[in-house]
Amino acid sequence: MADRVECGSEVDRPLRVAIIGSGPAGLYAAGHLLEQPAGTYLDRKVVRLVSRPVEVDVYERLLTPWGLVRSGVAPDHPNKKLVSRVFDRVAERQGFRFLGNVEVGTDIGLSTLREWYDAVIVAVGAIGDRSLGIPGEDLAGSWSARQFVGWYNGHPDFRDLEFDLSGETVAVIGNGNVALDVARILLTDPLDLGRTDVAEHALTALAASNVREVVILGRRGPAASAFNCAEFEELGHLPGIDVKIDASAMDMQDLAADWHVMRRLTLLNDLYRRPLRGDRKVIRFRYCAAPVEIVGDAKVTGLRIASGATADGTTPAQISMLPCTNVIRAVGYRCHQFPELPFDAAAGVIPNGQGRVLLDGKPQTGLYVTGWIKRGPRGVIGTNKKCARDTVRSLLADLQDSGRARHAVADFAAIPDMLREMGLQPTTYDDWRRIDRYERRYSRAGGRPRVKLTRPQELLGAALR
Ligand SMILES: Cc1cc2nc3c(=O)[nH]c(=O)nc-3n(C[C@H](O)[C@H](O)[C@H](O)COP(=O)(O)OP(=O)(O)OC[C@H]3O[C@@H](n4cnc5c(N)ncnc54)[C@H](O)[C@@H]3O)c2cc1C
Ligand SMILES: NC(=O)c1ccc[n+]([C@@H]2O[C@H](COP(=O)([O-])OP(=O)(O)OC[C@H]3O[C@@H](n4cnc5c(N)ncnc54)[C@H](OP(=O)(O)O)[C@@H]3O)[C@@H](O)[C@H]2O)c1
Repeated sequence: MADRVECGSEVDRPLRVAIIGSGPAGLYAAGHLLEQPAGTYLDRKVVRLVSRPVEVDVYERLLTPWGLVRSGVAPDHPNKKLVSRVFDRVAERQGFRFLGNVEVGTDIGLSTLREWYDAVIVAVGAIGDRSLGIPGEDLAGSWSARQFVGWYNGHPDFRDLEFDLSGETVAVIGNGNVALDVARILLTDPLDLGRTDVAEHALTALAASNVREVVILGRRGPAASAFNCAEFEELGHLPGIDVKIDASAMDMQDLAADWHVMRRLTLLNDLYRRPLRGDRKVIRFRYCAAPVEIVGDAKVTGLRIASGATADGTTPAQISMLPCTNVIRAVGYRCHQFPELPFDAAAGVIPNGQGRVLLDGKPQTGLYVTGWIKRGPRGVIGTNKKCARDTVRSLLADLQDSGRARHAVADFAAIPDMLREMGLQPTTYDDWRRIDRYERRYSRAGGRPRVKLTRPQELLGAALR
């Protein structure tokens, strides 16, 4: 490998950066690094952050890029996926390379990447679930939203899950945007869903579903809901679906709230007062309803809920049972420890200062984080743009200060071959374009925007056609 290691001065070779993860955070970071000649928008001006050419490798464990933009964003929200065009433009820039089908930490160690590049940015998102810590969480029919979302979006890790949708009622725990996505997808008319890029296997299962009622449970009052107003308002316009707000919610409104909360409460009032259309399907909101047990023998038959307790303890909670056949726990994702890196288990992030990985409070040379693994699993796609810019600014400041860019790194052109010599089969951005074209072409007959390939072998087949 020695002949593939080159030693260049800061002026005579590009800066080499590996980014792990091709979600919004990773792609925004690549975009900031490859800003030339356009520059980066900062403090209301366009400035040049980078003073020398940069070469970026984006490593991705899947064969497809864009992270949760492909496997998280709901299929009935196609406009949110248009951001992938921004990422396409980044990927087409000089110096960008996509290395799909390579899982860092499993297929190749982080320490190897640290030898090959001037800097490594970890942007792996959240690959786990926040736990409820109540009995019955592991029963059949109790799912994390991450599993259900991954399944309907055709993520290869989840495509073989089997959801029994023969019962009429599903309980969704949590009051975030993901809970609303899950409720809509469970109840949307299959004809409408069939005009989206929902995964084919999910479309078939949802078309045969008996689910008629989704009960969304907030453990606090409506003022504390985490979902956005636009997403909440949308529920009132869904064809064939009535929204019912429990009357108790009308007593829980905090009039001192900020305008976001006031707007949400106004929407809640509108929905509450709106005459029901008598639609066959219902989304029902219950508040101050904390899950205490997921009940069932072999599989879920109900959810035990504590509700109505006052904060001062003067009124004890009342326990009630919600009969249901599935419980979907939409209580947030959770980041996991990344091999060879420190992890703050309490905060659920890689400890960092302005994106610099910290070990015992000290920044680790050439190691950075961005996105959900840096901040925790919250924030919309756009939030990751500023987050990535802050990380890239730290990286550039460090490399200028330390002159680390002068150390020996791998020959950029040789890296794909070096990966193949390790027995890996990295895929390229052109391979992804072939997958993309194949998925879109295949969909035309059915009038869908795309029909996703969901098995690694199918994806590899389309990539290498
Ligand atoms: C269900 C859901 C729906 C959402 N919908 C919206 C929406 O409609 N609008 C909106 O603005 N925001 C939405 N968001 C939020 C948005 O998706 C996130 O803010 C954003 O995706 C976080 O970006 P990220 O790059 O940190 O993580 P991710 O998007 O998760 O990307 C991480 C990437 O790293 C890869 N990876 C992981 N481990 C490795 C490894 N070891 N080696 C190589 N690659 C690895 C993963 O495969 C993935 O591609 C949604 C979130 C969820 C959960
Ligand atoms: N359309 C969009 O723009 C879109 C779509 C999907 C996701 N996203 C974004 O992605 C991020 C993640 O969304 P998310 O919905 O997964 O997470 P989230 O916004 O953090 O919401 C999690 C919800 O779960 C509740 N919860 C947590 N622990 C609980 C427990 N033990 N028992 C009962 N309830 C519990 C929380 O209530 P408490 O407040 O009481 O803790 C909260 O209501 C968010 O930033 C979101 O905006 C955006």
